[in-house]
Amino acid sequence: MSNKLHIPVLLDESIDSLNLKDDGIYIDCTFGRGGHTFKIASMISSKGKVIAFDRDKEAIDFFNENNKFKNCSIIKSNFSEIVKKLNEIGIEKVDGIIYDLGISSPQIDNKERGFSYLSDNIVDMRMDQQQEKTANFILKNYKYDELFQMFRNYANDKNPIRLCNRIIQFRENNSNNDFFTNDLVKIIRESIDRKILYSKKYPEKKYFQAIRMEVNNEVNEIIMSLNSATSILNKNGRIVVITFNSLEDKIVKDIFAEKSKNLFPKEVPIKDNLKNFNVINKKKIRDDFDSNSRSKSARIRCIERC
Ligand SMILES: C[S@@+](CC[C@H](N)C(=O)[O-])C[C@H]1O[C@@H](n2cnc3c(N)ncnc32)[C@H](O)[C@@H]1O
Repeated sequence: MSNKLHIPVLLDESIDSLNLKDDGIYIDCTFGRGGHTFKIASMISSKGKVIAFDRDKEAIDFFNENNKFKNCSIIKSNFSEIVKKLNEIGIEKVDGIIYDLGISSPQIDNKERGFSYLSDNIVDMRMDQQQEKTANFILKNYKYDELFQMFRNYANDKNPIRLCNRIIQFRENNSNNDFFTNDLVKIIRESIDRKILYSKKYPEKKYFQAIRMEVNNEVNEIIMSLNSATSILNKNGRIVVITFNSLEDKIVKDIFAEKSKNLFPKEVPIKDNLKNFNVINKKKIRDDFDSNSRSKSARIRCIERC
């Protein structure tokens, strides 16, 4: 297991947004190495609770080896299962839920996990090591159209024709060979526009991220989880999400906007607006930890149950 540190981004600001109550029940949907979980546990009373989720076995092992808090526990599961898993342990309502999206530093630093374009291992990219679908499977088996959709939707590349063709060509020339991260970097660099190739330090980054999002079904996980999480919030309970790219940020923003719509149209003559949720607008906060490159694109979104 990689025990390397994960430095949480916007830690204080995101926990501040949760408006913690001493004896509240809080859910950290993305335990990682526990930056948020352990901080919340240290700030609430022994009557309160923090329940963390993660789908990565290494995160679960880390919790079991390092947790010192009695008011803290962990569940190994996709966070889309949040309501079902909490109901199984008798919890129906909570006071706050936090998501710190994406992958942790130990996941990316462990070269064998095949997330990093700076190593040379088989591309794997699974957050949950028991899941069957790997990045290697996708690159070896997806049809042209499926590859095209993946890069168009998740890498925001409107026309990834050359990239898809080269992936398929690589398969034909190397039958049964696995895709290594180096192969993928080479294929991407040979396929993209020269202008982009020479203007960006890591032009492959967004394509690696797109494959990772596909492997881990990240967009659907966020949509399913946020939609069910809103159903278990107590009055004044909050959901706080830290996003790291424009696609996931837009998804969160749109879901929060939809949930916080007035229940009656403007034309209905009632005195006060009726809503189930309020979006809590925060100023864009800069993270002080400048050398943490994740912090550059991070932003916090927050919603509160009325
Ligand atoms: C950015 S890290 C969280 C870091 C954590 N806040 C900390 O301070 O250590 C994201 C974690 O969430 C987990 N994760 C991401 N998506 C998940 C999902 N859909 N279900 C469960 N865990 C998920 C990843 O495995 C990873 O460990």
